[in-house]
Amino acid sequence: MLTPSDLTESGLPTQESVRRFHDQGYVHLRAVLSAGEVAGFRAAAEELLAKEGPEIWGASEDETQVHYVEAAWRKHPDLRALALHPVITRSAEHLAGGPLRLYGTDVLKKDPDVHLPTVVHDDEPGLPLAGLTRTLTAWVPLVDVPADRGCLIYVPGSHRRPPEHRQVHLAGFQDYRPMEEVWPDFPFSPRVSVPMRAGDVVFHDFRTVHMAAVNTGAERRLAFASVYMDSDATYRPGVQDHPVAHLEPGAPVDGELFPLIAAGPGATR
Ligand code: NI
Repeated sequence: MLTPSDLTESGLPTQESVRRFHDQGYVHLRAVLSAGEVAGFRAAAEELLAKEGPEIWGASEDETQVHYVEAAWRKHPDLRALALHPVITRSAEHLAGGPLRLYGTDVLKKDPDVHLPTVVHDDEPGLPLAGLTRTLTAWVPLVDVPADRGCLIYVPGSHRRPPEHRQVHLAGFQDYRPMEEVWPDFPFSPRVSVPMRAGDVVFHDFRTVHMAAVNTGAERRLAFASVYMDSDATYRPGVQDHPVAHLEPGAPVDGELFPLIAAGPGATR
């Protein structure tokens, strides 16, 4: 690695990074991917967007927060390589402190003409999964994301708020409640913008409250997000559960659609 990195020589997050992840609920690691890798992954993401046509996250086209292509890793071999990138997956398990499977991946595009911020949320209630303790997301910018380009904003330490201030599960979108209702301290909680350069990676815990600003810059924000779940998670019917809806409730979410990300000896399923 020629540029300063937050990885040790063996390619794992430093002790300080691990400490910050557990304390703050997120950690920004610089210079994880090379410029050449980023260029390749960016080309793949753009190719997929052009081919698939993105879906809208938001109530309607006029109320778009972000455009996305889901299950990107199953649709492009280079994005599979990104989702299972050895440095990212080893870092994920090192931060999480236990085995993980790939749950899902999205290509995320936030254009300058998308005028809504990304809603305040944590990832837990939207995952149709039970048994989660160490699930996390890796967010990988495929272009520079300076502060004005819809960068991520975190509420440090919010992953440690007590259960009564969390919404653990959404059986349906009708159960959705805004963060300030779920967690009355939210409006008064300090938040941190995390501008990132292409090649950086930010990891956040599934309970960390986050959002993204409007892209007021001139260039597209393009990113890739992977959710890595507890390896023994089970299906719990909920919102956006079509990737797992073929399973019986309570069944393990495993197999080749949800691979172990850093398969050790004997870890074939
Ligand atoms: Ni999120």
